[in-house]
Amino acid sequence: MSKKVIVLNGPNLNLLGLREPAVYGKATLEDVEALCRETGARLGVEVECLQSNHEGVLLDALHAAGRRVKAGEVIGVVMNPGAYTHTSIALHDAIKGAEVPLIEIHISNVHARESFRHHSYVSPAAAGIVVGFGVDGYRLAIEGLVRKQGA
Ligand code: DQA
Repeated sequence: MSKKVIVLNGPNLNLLGLREPAVYGKATLEDVEALCRETGARLGVEVECLQSNHEGVLLDALHAAGRRVKAGEVIGVVMNPGAYTHTSIALHDAIKGAEVPLIEIHISNVHARESFRHHSYVSPAAAGIVVGFGVDGYRLAIEGLVRKQGA
């Protein structure tokens, strides 16, 4: 059975395609999840996707991912935490507490935008960061995770 990568998308990413297309592009969340599954298939890993607008659901998903990493079933998580990136100490603590290898991805270059987007609570807990490549960043993040952790 092939190992798994979990792709987590946080708040408002269900609006991809409709939401500020000049910033985030025209691809929908469905397109992004298809891209992730195709990337995984090419690399021999199975991709599981979850999007939630609720911080607690994302925390539970990280805890579950950590348990599955320990069980040898999952190699890690690719996560776009959306605006929780800039606000959530709880996400930082969950990534560290669950000991889950995690690549943080942002579609836009957050450092070229408003100053409140320049700080990330997630980055110090992440194994790697992909920023500013549009939705193609999800492909780069999955490739990076597989190279770093092995499949
Ligand atoms: C984002 C950047 C965040 O600042 C923003 O709140 C998002 C999307 C991105 O993918 O560029 O929701 O994470």
